[in-house]
Amino acid sequence: MSEIKVAIAGVGNCTNSLVQGRFYYEDKEQTLKNKTTFPPSLDGRGRGEGEREIIPGLMHPVLGGYKVTDIVPVVAFDVDKRKVGKDLSEAIWASPNCTKKFSEVPHLGVKVLMGPVLDGVTEHLKRYVEVSSEKEIDNVDKVAQILKDNRADALVINLPTASEKAAWFYAEAAFKAKAGIVNGIPVLIANDKVFAKKAEKNKVPIVGDDYKSQLGGTILDRDLLNLCIQRGIKITKSYQLNYGGNTDFWNLTDYSRGKTKHASKKRGVDSVMTYPAPFSVNVSHLEVLNDDKICRIEIWGENFGGTPIKLEAKLHVVDSPNSAGVMVDAIRCCKLALDRGIGGVLESASSYLMKSTPKQYSSEERARKAMDEWIKGKRGE
Ligand SMILES: NC(=O)c1ccc[n+]([C@@H]2O[C@H](COP(=O)([O-])OP(=O)(O)OC[C@H]3O[C@@H](n4cnc5c(N)ncnc54)[C@H](O)[C@@H]3O)[C@@H](O)[C@H]2O)c1
Repeated sequence: MSEIKVAIAGVGNCTNSLVQGRFYYEDKEQTLKNKTTFPPSLDGRGRGEGEREIIPGLMHPVLGGYKVTDIVPVVAFDVDKRKVGKDLSEAIWASPNCTKKFSEVPHLGVKVLMGPVLDGVTEHLKRYVEVSSEKEIDNVDKVAQILKDNRADALVINLPTASEKAAWFYAEAAFKAKAGIVNGIPVLIANDKVFAKKAEKNKVPIVGDDYKSQLGGTILDRDLLNLCIQRGIKITKSYQLNYGGNTDFWNLTDYSRGKTKHASKKRGVDSVMTYPAPFSVNVSHLEVLNDDKICRIEIWGENFGGTPIKLEAKLHVVDSPNSAGVMVDAIRCCKLALDRGIGGVLESASSYLMKSTPKQYSSEERARKAMDEWIKGKRGE
């Protein structure tokens, strides 16, 4: 298959994991060489030759014919002086990035460009981000031209949470360049009717908004709540508390920034509830954790005879690779849509991969099935 050329806005921890993953999977993909592969089936038993093939950490070893190693970063924007002007392979390791190293990244020949700061860096965030004094490329047409010149198939938005103006600026540039959009942040793009319509008209595919994380708090919470509902438990209240030490967690502790993430998480959880029950969600920043994240979930309910039941879960993950596993699928879906001449919000992929989507499926299993059918070309969208 051909390469998938990717432009990235925001060279933080999530971008670091995406770029590392591209090289990590080079070796792993050798195991699939000369074998017919399909997405692993949901029951885990497989339905035919090749279906039992598993590459650890990937939901789709091959997606629509594309491998993770087909993803090639061609453009990157940031605003931090420790990243701008550097090769992407170096910039991903500049402070305050603090994620785990799991692969060697060679020189990429992609210089990080100075994007417009807009609302990307608040006073609160300046504790970690040092804004560069380089001249900003602050014109949408210029950014669109850079995307066109580099033949970007998709633009990945990995900006700080709630950078609304910055996210819309890059999305606008992607529309002009006819590059697909992967919106990993809780700013409304797929969920904005005007953007969605425009994307359909311009044949620009969108997967958004806000990565679900491969195995994160939202997906775990949704499945646990679903299980309780299916088993007749009357849920009376629940909460989800997330804590970590990276810049994103620091950004989220600023209420004006964190509220979009809380709303996004709430939408993801609400969509599985068949009746209202009080739900709280919050985040804390604990610097020593670096890119480690801990999520605690507690659910209270009534069981048979009104007897009490309480469920507690604790998830410990490295935060950013947990988003990159989702990113590699979203990017490949965008490319597949471009190949098929499809634009607009990719509903099933967005529902499976993102927290907030216009169409929410009632379970992960349904969303996954719909996405896999779409990949095989059995659904329109
Ligand atoms: N598991 C996960 O890590 C996960 C899951 C879901 C969503 N997300 C979302 O992904 C986004 C990125 O997360 P991260 O951990 O990489 O954050 P990060 O803070 O490490 O990276 C953000 C980067 O954007 C840069 N930036 C700020 N303003 C900019 C601008 N105007 N133009 C270009 N670059 C700009 C910053 O300098 C920084 O390098 C966040 O919004 C987060 O909510 C992450």
